[in-house]
Amino acid sequence: MKVKVSRKAHFNAAHRLYNREWSDDRNAEIFGKCSNPNYHGHNYELIVSVTGEIHPETGFVMDMKVLKTIIREEVEDPFDHKNLNEEVDEFKTLNPTAENIVVVIWNKIRGRIPEGLSLEVILYETPRNFVSYDGN
Ligand code: NI
Repeated sequence: MKVKVSRKAHFNAAHRLYNREWSDDRNAEIFGKCSNPNYHGHNYELIVSVTGEIHPETGFVMDMKVLKTIIREEVEDPFDHKNLNEEVDEFKTLNPTAENIVVVIWNKIRGRIPEGLSLEVILYETPRNFVSYDGN
């Protein structure tokens, strides 16, 4: 019997989508307003889910206090109120699309979750646009 436990979090961040190999015109054509050279912001919402067996002694799949701390240290502290392109090492050479951001977040959190538990991250870039990654 496996149970999925989830925690929501959020961060505000600025980014610019562009491919440095392309001309400004090509970047504008593909990325539109998201390629604005002066950056723009999003209110990112996150759902982090951990799935596994209920531990017989605690009754928990995972202690949510621990998960809360991991999300704060790996995502909120390094990303909140940052310019992702300029201030977050992972995006110095990686285009900070929602797809790339969710994979970066998943990798950062995965390293701190016990091996027997599986991890899924859903990232909302806007209330209507969201991406998810579970390591596959
Ligand atoms: Ni954007």
